[in-house]
Amino acid sequence: MQSIQPFHVMDILARARELEGQRRSIVHLEVGEPDFATAAPIVAAGKRALEQGLTHYTPALGLPALRQAVAHFYAERYGVTLSPGRVVMTPGASGALLAAVGVLLDPGDRVLMADPGYPCNRNFIQLMDARPVPVDVGPASAYQLTLDLVKEHWSPDCRAVLIASPSNPTGSLMPRSELRAIVHWVEGQGGTVVMDEIYHGLVYGDRAETVLAFTEQAFVINSFSKYFGMTGWRLGWLVAPEPYVREVDKLVQNIFLAASTPAQHAAMAAFAPETLAILEARRAEFEGRRDFLLPALKKLGFAVPLAPQGAFYIYADCSAFTDDSDAFARDLLERSGVAVTPGRDFGQNAPERHLRFAYTTSRERLEEGVARIADYLPKSRCRASP
Ligand SMILES: Cc1ncc(COP(=O)(O)O)c(C=O)c1O
Repeated sequence: MQSIQPFHVMDILARARELEGQRRSIVHLEVGEPDFATAAPIVAAGKRALEQGLTHYTPALGLPALRQAVAHFYAERYGVTLSPGRVVMTPGASGALLAAVGVLLDPGDRVLMADPGYPCNRNFIQLMDARPVPVDVGPASAYQLTLDLVKEHWSPDCRAVLIASPSNPTGSLMPRSELRAIVHWVEGQGGTVVMDEIYHGLVYGDRAETVLAFTEQAFVINSFSKYFGMTGWRLGWLVAPEPYVREVDKLVQNIFLAASTPAQHAAMAAFAPETLAILEARRAEFEGRRDFLLPALKKLGFAVPLAPQGAFYIYADCSAFTDDSDAFARDLLERSGVAVTPGRDFGQNAPERHLRFAYTTSRERLEEGVARIADYLPKSRCRASP
C-alpha cells in the first residue's frame, strides 16, 4: 500500500464540494464522468428488473443474454466476430482490469504503459506485485506508445503492454497500423496486449479500432460508464482470450461473485437503437464542447500541441503560467472556483507542467469557467519561475 498513490482529483473534488457547501459557485472541469443522467431506456429497463424482483446473483461471468448482446455489438460496430463465451461482465472497467491482471501477471512481471496515463491501472499492476513500467510519451507519438518505444523498453521479464485508446488524460488515439504492429510484435515475444477501450464511442472524427480486429490473444477492458453514461451503476466487461476464461471465472467467483444484477438488466437496453440515438446526440454535444474549449484554452495561453480525438479531456501545458500545476489547480479552485485536475495524477512525465480539463459540464458552464480562468491568470500566485 505504501507504493499506491491516492487519486488526487478526488481531493480536488472533495474540496470543491466543501466550497459548494459554503455556497460558493464551482465550475467542475475535474470530473471524469458524463454530466448527463443515464439514458431513459436504460433506466426504464433497470426499474423493470427491480420491480420484477430480478435482484439475485447472476452467474459469475454475467447474464448470458447480456454477454450475447455485447458480442453482437462487436459484430455491428466493428465487424468483428466474438464468441459470447469470452465476454465477462464486471463491476466497471476497474473490475475488468483487476480480473485481467489477476489471471495474467505473476509477481515481478513487467507491464509497459504510456506516461501520462490513467493512474489506477498502474496501481492494479502493483497490487499483483508486478511492475508497471511507465514509458514517457508526448505529442510526437500522439501521447501513445509506438512499436519503437515498445521495442526499446521491452525486457525478458515483460509480460504485457497496456494500451488505452482514446487515452485518459490526453484523449489521443493510437493509429490502427501502430496498434496492429504492436500486437504482432508483442505476441511474437510471447507477451500479451491489454487494451483499455473504455472511451470507445466517444471519438470525434476517426473511428477507434478494437484490438480484437487483430488478435484473439489480447485482453480487452471496456465499460458501460463513459459512452453509455452509467458510471454509478458500476458495470463493465472484459473480453478474455479463450484459454483464460475459466481462470477469470474462478477469480470473479471469489472477488466479486458477480457484477450488479439490476445494472446488467438495465444494460440490456444500452444497445437498442433508441438508446444509441440518445448516446450519439450526446457524443455530438461533447464534440461541440471540445471545439469550444480547445481554442478557448489556447487563446488564454495554454499549449495543447495535439487536438484530442476522443474521450472528454484536454491535457494542457500550463508552463506559461506556472511550474507547479498542483499548487496552480488548488489556487485556481480557492480563488476563482474552477476545479481542474493537476498532472500529477497521471504519472511522472512533466506532471508539474500539465493540467487536465474535462468538458463534462454544459457549454454555459464551460464559458463561465473560461471567463473565470481569464480573470484569474493575471492574479495567479503560482507564476512560472523566470
Ligand atoms: C482509462 C480508464 N480506464 C478505466 C476507468 C475505470 O472506469 P469504470 O470502472 O467506471 O468503468 C477509467 C475511469 O475514469 C478510465 O479513465
